Amino acid sequence: MQKNLFIAFEGIDGSGKSTQVKLLAEKLISEGHKVYTTCEPTSGPIGKMIRSVFSGAAKADHRTIAALFLADRLEHLTNEVDGLLLKLKQGYTVITDRYYFSSYAYHSVYVDMDWVIATNSICADLLRPDLTIYIDISPEVSMQRINAGREALELYETEDNLRQVRSFYQMAFDKLKAEEKVFTTAGNRSPEAISESVWAEVSKRIQ
Ligand code: ADP
Ligand code: TYD
Repeated sequence: MQKNLFIAFEGIDGSGKSTQVKLLAEKLISEGHKVYTTCEPTSGPIGKMIRSVFSGAAKADHRTIAALFLADRLEHLTNEVDGLLLKLKQGYTVITDRYYFSSYAYHSVYVDMDWVIATNSICADLLRPDLTIYIDISPEVSMQRINAGREALELYETEDNLRQVRSFYQMAFDKLKAEEKVFTTAGNRSPEAISESVWAEVSKRIQ
C-alpha cells in the first residue's frame, strides 16, 4: 500500500531546497502520487508580516519574530482551505520548503533553543514530518550562490550568521534525535546527485 508522507526540506539559505523540492515532486508525480508543495514563511497574512520585517520595512524583537514564525506555521497547518493537515487527509504527499527545524536553527542565534522548541511543540504534536531532509552546505558556497542569484540580501544572509545557523541545525538534530527522522545529504554536489540520494531515502518509505 502506498502511504502519503509529510516531508520537510531544511538547510541554510541557498542550500538548494527549492530545487530539490521541485525535483522530488516531479519524481513522485511520475510515480503516480498526488503531491502538494509548499513553503515557510507562507504567502498568507502572517507570512507577509514576516517578510516586511525581513525587508526592513518593519522592526521587531527576535522573540517576536520567532513567535510570528510559530503563528505562520500554525496557520500553515490548520488553514481550512489549504492547510497541511487537510492536504494530508486528502491523500496528498506534502513537501514543505522549511518547517520547525528552521525556527530551531535560525532563532537560536538570538534566543534560547529550548524556548523555541517548547513553543513549537504544539506544531510537533499536530504534525511531525515522516522525514526531514537536511541539505548540508558550507556558508561559503551558499553565499556564492545567493550573491550570484540576487541583488538584495535578506536579514539572515551573512556568512557569519549562516555559519551559526548551520551549527544550530546540527545541535537541534542531536537534541531531537530520539523523536525526529532526519536524513542529511551533502549539498555541494550536482542537483541530480542530491536528488538521487533524496529519492533513495524517500522511496524506501513509500513501498
Ligand atoms: P534555497 O531554496 O535553499 O534557497 P535554491 O534551490 O533556490 O535554494 O538554490 C539557490 C541557488 O543555487 C539557485 O540559483 C539555484 O539554481 C542554485 N542551485 C541549487 N542547487 C544547486 C546545486 N546542487 N549546485 C549548484 N547550484 C545549485
Ligand atoms: P526565504 O526567502 O524563503 O529563504 P530561502 O529561499 O533561503 O529558504 O526566507 C526564509 C528566511 O526565513 C530564511 O532566511 C530562513 C528564515 N526562517 C526563520 O528565521 N525561521 C523560520 O521558522 C523559518 C521557516 C524561516
